[in-house]
Amino acid sequence: MVWVVGATGAIGSAIATTLAQQGAAVIASGRRGDVLDALVATIGAAGGRAGARVLDICDAPDIERATGEIIASHGAIDGLVNSTALSTFGDFLKLTDAQWLQVLDAKLLGYVRTMRAVLPHMLQRGSGGIVNISGRGGRQPTAAHLPGGAANAGVNLITKGIADSYFKQGVRANVVAPGPIASARFDKIRTSNDQLAGGERPRAILDRLGTPEDVAEAVAWLLSDQSRHTTGAVIPVDGGGTATV
Ligand SMILES: NC(=O)c1ccc[n+]([C@@H]2O[C@H](COP(=O)([O-])OP(=O)(O)OC[C@H]3O[C@@H](n4cnc5c(N)ncnc54)[C@H](OP(=O)(O)O)[C@@H]3O)[C@@H](O)[C@H]2O)c1
Repeated sequence: MVWVVGATGAIGSAIATTLAQQGAAVIASGRRGDVLDALVATIGAAGGRAGARVLDICDAPDIERATGEIIASHGAIDGLVNSTALSTFGDFLKLTDAQWLQVLDAKLLGYVRTMRAVLPHMLQRGSGGIVNISGRGGRQPTAAHLPGGAANAGVNLITKGIADSYFKQGVRANVVAPGPIASARFDKIRTSNDQLAGGERPRAILDRLGTPEDVAEAVAWLLSDQSRHTTGAVIPVDGGGTATV
C-alpha cells in the first residue's frame, strides 16, 4: 500500500492514479475531502484500489493517528509519497515571516512529519520506499519562488540524510524534482515570475511543458523494485531545464 500525501493536487492525483493503474493500493490524503472522494471514485471506476484519509500536513498528532489507522486497516505502508505545497509566491522584499513559515510548514516540515510517523513502521518491517517531490527551485532559484525553493533544497537534503541513515534497514528514500509542469500551480508561478523577472522564462531543453504524469512515472519507478539500486537521489523531471549537475 502506498500513501500519497497531497493527492488532491495536480501532481499528487496523477501519482495516485498512476500507482493504482500499476496495481498498487493507494491511500490518498489532503485537506479537501470532496476532492479526495472524487479521486478515489475515479480510480475505483477504472478498476484500481484507493481509499481517502483527510489530513492537514501541519497537524503532527493527526499524522501520527492517520499512520496508525492506515497500518491497522491495510497491514503495512510499503510506500510514502509527499507532494504538498502552498501557492505563496512573490517579491522577496514583500514576503513576510508568516508567509515564509507557512511555506516551510506545509512542505519541509510537513514532509518531516509524515516521514517521522511512517519510518518506525518501515524500519520494523525492514522495507519501505519514500519519494518526496521537491522541485527545480531547490537547485536553481526562481525570483518569485524563493520560499518554495528553500523548502525544496531542504527536502533534497533531508531525504538524502534519511537515505543514508536507513538504507541498512531496507528503506530507500529519493526525491523527484519537477521543473515546470502543466498545472494551476505553474500558472501562478509563471504569472508572479513574469512580474518580477520581466518575462524571462526558465530554460528547458525539451520543447514541451512537463505533465503531472511525467512526474508520476518517475515516482512509480522509484517505488518499484526496478530502482532497487537507487537511494538518496534527486531525479529531475524538468525537460533538461536545470542548469546545474
Ligand atoms: N506544478 C509545478 O509546476 C511544480 C514544479 C515543481 C515542483 N512542484 C512541486 O510538486 C508538488 C505538487 O505540486 P502541484 O503542482 O500538484 O501543486 P497543487 O496542485 O497546488 O497541490 C498542492 C497539494 O498540497 C496539498 N496541501 C497544501 N497544504 C496542505 C496541508 N496543510 N495539508 C495537506 N495537504 C496540503 C494540497 O491539498 P489540499 O489543498 O487538499 O490540502 C494539494 O494536494 C509540490 O511539492 C510542488 O512544490 C510542482
